Amino acid sequence: MIEFKNVSKIYETGTEAVHDATFTIEKGEFAFLVGTSGSGKSTLIKLILKEEEASRGNIIINGKDITYLRKKRVPFLRRSMGVVFQDFRLLPDKTVYDNVAFAMHIVKATPRHIRRQVPMVLSLVGLSNKAKMYPNELSGGEQQRVALARALVNNPSMIIADEPTRKLRSRNSLGYYEFA
Ligand SMILES: Nc1ncnc2c1ncn2[C@@H]1O[C@H](COP(=O)(O)OP(=O)(O)OP(=O)(O)O)[C@@H](O)[C@H]1O
Ligand SMILES: [Mg+2]
Repeated sequence: MIEFKNVSKIYETGTEAVHDATFTIEKGEFAFLVGTSGSGKSTLIKLILKEEEASRGNIIINGKDITYLRKKRVPFLRRSMGVVFQDFRLLPDKTVYDNVAFAMHIVKATPRHIRRQVPMVLSLVGLSNKAKMYPNELSGGEQQRVALARALVNNPSMIIADEPTRKLRSRNSLGYYEFA
């Protein structure tokens, strides 16, 4: 569950990227946020991840107000979220396989679990044959699917995707995302 209560974000430059946002996304809900370039979509996602701090208002994730969440607790918050960033944020010196495996490694998954899970999600996004490639050897859509595989691999309770379907063909798009 994601709840925004009168949230505003004003960057240090003075730009107000989010203005008085109030909404709730319930468990199991599949929500789209649509808006023109520069209207604040990516900023809103960064607020959910606590990558940016809200200037005003409260953000409640799974019943917890993260407004005053301590820095040390932020990794635990992010563990429940699978995120596909607009710029993908892949590790350039790691293969497709290792980019996805790394996401499991940092949450201390066992090697056995990693060996089982990574090929499964790569197959899910149609990239089994690209496992040994590096990000710069992939098309934009393929890179985005690696980012999607990485977001899914730890079975997060919510998936947050910035521009998830622009480059994805429908046969690779998943039917729904589940919010918890
Ligand atoms: N780090 C930052 N510092 C200052 N201003 C920023 C910063 N990041 C974004 N902005 C500004 O905040 C506004 C919203 O940006 P944001 O990236 O959230 O838009 P967006 O809706 O994701 O756009 P797009 O569809 O192009 O990805 C823009 O005016 C942008 O210039
Ligand atoms: Mg954006």
